[in-house]
Amino acid sequence: MSPSTLAHRNVSESPDDAAKPRLNLIGGGRLGRTLARAWHDAGTVDIGAVVCRSSITADAAVAFIGSGKSHTALEGLPPAALWLIATGDGEIASVAGEIAAQGLIRPGDLVFHASGALDSAVLAPLLASGALTGSLHPALSFADPSRALGQLAGTPCALDGDAAALPMLEALAHAFGGKPFTLAAGGKAAYHAAMVMGSNYLVALTALAQQLAGQAGIAPGMALTVLGPLMWQTLANALELGPAAALTGPIARGDAGTVARHLAVLDNAVIQDAYLALGRATVPLAQLNDTQRQELAALLNA
Ligand SMILES: NC(=O)c1ccc[n+]([C@@H]2O[C@H](COP(=O)([O-])OP(=O)(O)OC[C@H]3O[C@@H](n4cnc5c(N)ncnc54)[C@H](OP(=O)(O)O)[C@@H]3O)[C@@H](O)[C@H]2O)c1
Repeated sequence: MSPSTLAHRNVSESPDDAAKPRLNLIGGGRLGRTLARAWHDAGTVDIGAVVCRSSITADAAVAFIGSGKSHTALEGLPPAALWLIATGDGEIASVAGEIAAQGLIRPGDLVFHASGALDSAVLAPLLASGALTGSLHPALSFADPSRALGQLAGTPCALDGDAAALPMLEALAHAFGGKPFTLAAGGKAAYHAAMVMGSNYLVALTALAQQLAGQAGIAPGMALTVLGPLMWQTLANALELGPAAALTGPIARGDAGTVARHLAVLDNAVIQDAYLALGRATVPLAQLNDTQRQELAALLNA
């Protein structure tokens, strides 16, 4: 990171190393303890309070981070230039409200969360205290903190927040080797929907393809074996070449006859809806003449 981006903020609470801002961590679970440890290891921050609901979790988080003081309540926390609210998404708003009500924030302190679905507006109660607010979402699974720590470098990190908060969030992402990028104002929900579409719905698509293969008499395990190489290759092509260049198959060839034969055997309503919707999304990727486009549209809009 560029230490100067963070170093000028509220350094007085850090007598041992006046260049390092203090970080208070609210929510020392999987993500919170991993990021705090990474920033501590990198010498980016001093760890102040580590707050969880239970002292067992808070103590375990402090042990994992290798620094900080465990707390089970927000009362009486030390001042800090940086506050990460890494509770579950459902608790972020109430924790922000409580921090504001406790008068813990000084003008210029940065309060941020790591949710992929919520934007920084959820931290609005803190604005009256003069806080800078934002969010930093690493697109990584933190299922196991020790593993996640080793996987952080290179992780894309979506940022949103006040103009003054963004350079600080960028510096924090760089500090653990993250690759920060900024979302358009109000873009967080669309960003999260994109992640869900590209990740969760890929899983759903796999299940639907497996089910269709079952209709052809292929056992579920065998279906994944058959689909696997094609799916890996297609995903790699789509990511490396871009979706349009990666497209093959009947729609790419303008082959309405084959699409009609598929539709004739789809007897499950969910599979039929998915086939039609994804087919309509596929047509604009293909290089077709007007007749081919119209024939496919007639089938897929039915
Ligand atoms: N996990 C991931 O892969 C991942 C990836 C990207 C982003 N995120 C985001 O990161 C955030 C944290 O997720 P997580 O998976 O790390 O959650 P988690 O493992 O469930 O940890 C949440 C922590 O918050 C604490 N907590 C909850 N309510 C609290 C309160 N009112 N005051 C103080 N502490 C409180 C819990 O303490 P107790 O244990 O004592 O109850 C727990 O330690 C979420 O916003 C999530 O969307 C997670």
